[in-house]
Formats: sequence, C-alpha cells, structure tokens
Amino acid sequence: MTEYKKYLDEAVKIAKTAGKTIKEAFENRQFISEHLEIKENNSSDLVTATDQYVEKMVKSHLNKVFPTHSFIGEETTAANNMARCELTDNPTWCIDPIDGTTNFVHGLPFTCISIGLLINKEPVMGVIFNPILNDLYTATKNGGAFLNGKPLPLIRPIQPLETLEKSLIITEYGANRNEESVKAKLDTIHQIIKYPVHGIRSFGSAAMNMCYVARGSCDIYYEIGIHAWDVAAATCILKEAGGVVVGWKPYKEVSEPEKKKQKTESSKTEKIDIVNEKFDVLNRHVLCIRQLAEGPEKQNEILAEVRKRLI
Ligand code: IPD
Repeated sequence: MTEYKKYLDEAVKIAKTAGKTIKEAFENRQFISEHLEIKENNSSDLVTATDQYVEKMVKSHLNKVFPTHSFIGEETTAANNMARCELTDNPTWCIDPIDGTTNFVHGLPFTCISIGLLINKEPVMGVIFNPILNDLYTATKNGGAFLNGKPLPLIRPIQPLETLEKSLIITEYGANRNEESVKAKLDTIHQIIKYPVHGIRSFGSAAMNMCYVARGSCDIYYEIGIHAWDVAAATCILKEAGGVVVGWKPYKEVSEPEKKKQKTESSKTEKIDIVNEKFDVLNRHVLCIRQLAEGPEKQNEILAEVRKRLI
C-alpha cells in the first residue's frame, strides 16, 4: 500500500458514481442530442450537459474531502475562459469528466472519466473508468498499475518492440482544425505511415489511448495539442505499467530556420535521454511508448525515431 492509497480510494469511489451517470446518459441518446453544445464555434469540440454535471459533482466532492487541494477541470477551465491553467506544487486534482466526448455523443464505447492527482507537479495517482466497457484503470506512484485489479501490462507475453516497423501507433486529429495545425498533423501521419508501421489507430480519447498502450495492445501514442486533464491520470497509469511518457517542442513555437537548425543538431546528438526526461502535463504535445523488454536503451532509440518524424 502506498501513501497515495487514500486518494486512490476516494477517486475510485467518485469515478464509479460518475460512471453510473455517464452510462445512464450514454444509453439515453435523445437526452444527449438535446443537451449538446459546441465550444467557441468549433464544431469538432463538443460538450454535453453530462460533462458539466459530472465535473461539478466531482469538484464539490473533492472540495469537501480535500479542502486545501487545488483543482483543474476541463469544463471549469472552459467556463472561466482560462486559456492556460496554472499548476502549482500544491496537491492538484486534474479531471476530465468525460474524455472522448465525441464518442460519447455518437454512441461509441471509448469514453471515460479521468481523475488524476499531481503533487509537486508530478502525477502520483490516476483513475480512469470506462463505464460502458466496465474497465477501471488505477495506479499510484510506486504502487503499480491495474485494470480491474489485474496488473498492467495485461497482454502477455509482450514481444519486445525491436523497431518502429512492428509497432501499432495511436494518434488523434484533435479539435484544432486550423490550416497550420491540420497540416502538421497530416504531415506527421505521412512520415510515420510511410516508415512503414503496422498501423495507425485513433480511439477518440487521449486517456483511453494511453491505457491501450499501458495494456500492451498498442505500442506508441502521440498527439499534438492535448490538455493536462487528458493525460494527468493516464501518465501515472502508463508509467506504473512500465511505459514512458515525454513531451516535445510545440511546432508552433518554432520558426522554420530554427526547426532546420534543431533537426541538424538533434541528428548530430541523437542520444537524448528521453526515458529520464520529466514529463510536464501542461505540455500540449504527448508521446508515449509501452514497456519494452530490452530496456531503456531500445526505448530511447525507438522514441528518437518517432520524434524525428514529428512535425
Ligand atoms: C479530447 C479527446 C480526443 C483528443 C483531444 C481531447 P475530450 O478530449 O481526448 O481524443 O484528440 O485532444 O481534447 O474533448 O473528449 O474531453
């Protein structure tokens, strides 16, 4: 039992209660379509009454049980027009009431509540519950990761990933559809698929994507433009399953000449210690890889290979 057990127990309790609400709403198609909004005129960024209701419920429960803790939630951030949320060293609950809202709206079962706890900015506890498939992922720092009580990774024996060629990669198109962003995403997919790899998947939920890597079903997940609440809980789960979670430099913040310079420099110094790099959940770009039998050197090599292709 770890020092984080009391947080885990509370998070599981909340996730199960919220899960009941999410499942009931999921099964009531008419209710969902009548209570659907789009965020900031972006038809690909959806929010439902259930997202808002669940977040309020989770927040008020956490405020009562842990009054000194901070809170970051997807809908609270959107409602307060906060472009960027502030993360301090204080224990901070980072919540996505429904990750995979588009799936929820369309009746696809890859949808979940994601509850992460960060202390000193590090994800130390994660609970992700998919109430449709009844999959409960849990993890605490140094306490291991589990799916419905079974240790992750689940698929055994896991074959070591020798090259990128043998990998099943997950990515998403995300909600940002501006020209520059779409181009960067498609160029990256092009670079990866032509490598070639076994395949590319998109489950429509960042948290679920990371859980499928933690299970051992998929090998790599990367996404341009995620949010802290999409990855906080899953980062703890994937790391405890033996995986690696890193960020990379946002393409937008890098000018063309700088990008070229970086590419030449990084090909010269390809031996970056990606495995030991600390992941910042506020980084909008995530890249993860599952556990590999060969250990950190091979992980570094394969991550560097994927990273080279990220635009
Ligand atoms: C989104 C999903 C989606 C990912 C987006 C997220 P939401 O979260 O995780 O898969 O591509 O980046 O914002 O809106 O369903 O909570």
